[in-house]
Amino acid sequence: MKKRLLVVTTGGDCPGLNAVIRAIVKRAARESNWEVLGSIEGYHGMLQEPLQLVLLDSNKVSGIHVMGGSIIRTTNKGGPFNWPVKNPDGSWITVDRSDELIRRLQYQNIDAVICIGGDGSQRISQQLFEKGVNIVGVPKTIDNDLLCTDLTFGFQTAVEVATDAVDKLVTTATSHSRTMILEVMGRDAGWIALNAAVAGGAHIVLIPEIPYDVQKVIAKIEERQEASKDFAIIVIAEGAKPIGGEVTGSKSTQAGYENLILGGIGHKLMGDIKKHLDIEMRVTILGHLQRGGIPTAYDRILATQFGVKAFEMVQEERFGEMVALKNHDITSAPITEAIAQMNLVDPKNYLQKTAREIGICLGD
Ligand code: F6P
Repeated sequence: MKKRLLVVTTGGDCPGLNAVIRAIVKRAARESNWEVLGSIEGYHGMLQEPLQLVLLDSNKVSGIHVMGGSIIRTTNKGGPFNWPVKNPDGSWITVDRSDELIRRLQYQNIDAVICIGGDGSQRISQQLFEKGVNIVGVPKTIDNDLLCTDLTFGFQTAVEVATDAVDKLVTTATSHSRTMILEVMGRDAGWIALNAAVAGGAHIVLIPEIPYDVQKVIAKIEERQEASKDFAIIVIAEGAKPIGGEVTGSKSTQAGYENLILGGIGHKLMGDIKKHLDIEMRVTILGHLQRGGIPTAYDRILATQFGVKAFEMVQEERFGEMVALKNHDITSAPITEAIAQMNLVDPKNYLQKTAREIGICLGD
């Protein structure tokens, strides 16, 4: 009987998920003793009745490396350890279905699992590993906030989208003499904002790691006005906040969705600037445009390497580890190390220093 590998994509989607799936399947097809299955919508496919599993063979994955999204779908609502259940009165609770998941994996003769997911997903991977599941992680997130890997796939694509938005805002800002605010993704880490600001030549960048002083932002706009520059570009991460303030967002009403839905800090910033400066401003929220669409060549290549490595780690029984990119080499690290902290923009980070050295204001 063939060995069975289960692939799951969990958490928010990310350009390059399909390229990882394709690489795993193509690499596995070179071995005669493995077959690959996908669980639909993360672990939900394994926990639903009837099971929602799909055989992933070479035909199924042909050409999918250029596609955004995940052919096996994904979810960031609930999981095996906090499965949402509706009470008769309509309220929701979450229950631990991890033991049931493990029984189902055994019943389906699943020998190993590859989980393609971000920090929350890899926390689940670690918990499952501690309960005896043979699991390998692949780091995914446009936010690039996972430790132990120099980059996650999907990040470069998001930076391209955000930079393209900055470039476009520059042209309209100059023709109208406006200050434009671009709100980009980045819940805890400001990597997308910082990279897009440097690449696009923004004047101000505000990131979650550095609570901003609105007076510093105003001073930078005034500095430009004094130099007869009548437009300005501000890039702000969705997770940024003013000094002493909170992040801007709303609570989700969806069962199992634990995060705050971030969004709106750009409008808040515009309101705060306008209290002091009478200038024309507009806000653009880039949102999920950063997560959809065709992955860049770089992300496809990285994702493909991650997929091949993940399968080989399964063969080598390197369970409880995550694929990683380190110094241009594809390697691995214990999942525990990858989830110990978040990969945040460090004060000593050279890109942050570069931004400051070329005159970009970071709001501090
Ligand atoms: O984690 C990646 C991310 O893009 C965050 O930057 C963002 O806050 C979140 O996903 C939004 O996810 P969703 O809208 O799918 O719940």
